[in-house]
Amino acid sequence: MYTQLQQRGMDQPPVNVSTLARMKSEREPIACLTAYDASFASLVDHAGADIVLVGDSLGMVVQGYDTTVPVTVDDMIYHSRLVARGLSRAFLVTDMPFMSYTSPDQALENSVRLMQEGAAMMVKLEGGSSQVKIVEYLTRHDIPVCAHIGLKPQSVHKIGGFKVQGRDEGQALQMTEDALALQAAGADIVLLECVPNEVGKAVTGVLDVPVIGIGAGPEVDGQILVLYDALGITQGRMPRFVKNFMVDSQSIPEALGNYVDAVKSRAYPGPEHCFS
Ligand code: KIV
Repeated sequence: MYTQLQQRGMDQPPVNVSTLARMKSEREPIACLTAYDASFASLVDHAGADIVLVGDSLGMVVQGYDTTVPVTVDDMIYHSRLVARGLSRAFLVTDMPFMSYTSPDQALENSVRLMQEGAAMMVKLEGGSSQVKIVEYLTRHDIPVCAHIGLKPQSVHKIGGFKVQGRDEGQALQMTEDALALQAAGADIVLLECVPNEVGKAVTGVLDVPVIGIGAGPEVDGQILVLYDALGITQGRMPRFVKNFMVDSQSIPEALGNYVDAVKSRAYPGPEHCFS
């Protein structure tokens, strides 16, 4: 009865929350990428990524909006279902879009939809201490949660653009406190976006759960990039932390393999991808 989740026909067992906790305790870097469809999900999975995130970044890189704000729960379910079909080993995390978790009941209803209709194994939501009650409520209902702090793209209009967070001491301390409160509320993973290395290091040091960074320096438990950024598909000015892995690769599978190897060996991110 339990064999399907454990093996799913693969020589390597699927990643789950226990795998991720073990990787943190053994200091094995966790390699993560986003994906939005089955074909890319399968390539990312075969490259050895441990987590695949169906990010609401799909609003920008797939749907062509300037922000993630217009993305709906139905959009997330559609793309999550496509990605799930491409995965064998990687753990599937799906974003809760803007305004889909404004109350505990709304958050529960939408996360259940993401899991039942979108095959998500964990949901990700943005927010610090203001989301503690929501995370507690989801945890009480056995919904695995990733809490996204630092730069929160859904708040872009409130914070005045996509910019580095936690540069002043007070803000950095608040971020560490928020991370601890979210962990205490039951968050299984914390995702930290666009902060100075020191903040990445401090948050990772105080938490027992894995911390996945994007532009959070080398001293976090894992790294994530938006797939289209890592493959040089996204046009325009890139954030400092982005590396185009196609530049030194002959094919997409090779570039994805090089990304996973660079995360595992801690070659990525280099100093040129970090904030101080
Ligand atoms: O939506 C997304 O792709 C994300 C990443 C930036 C981590 O949240």
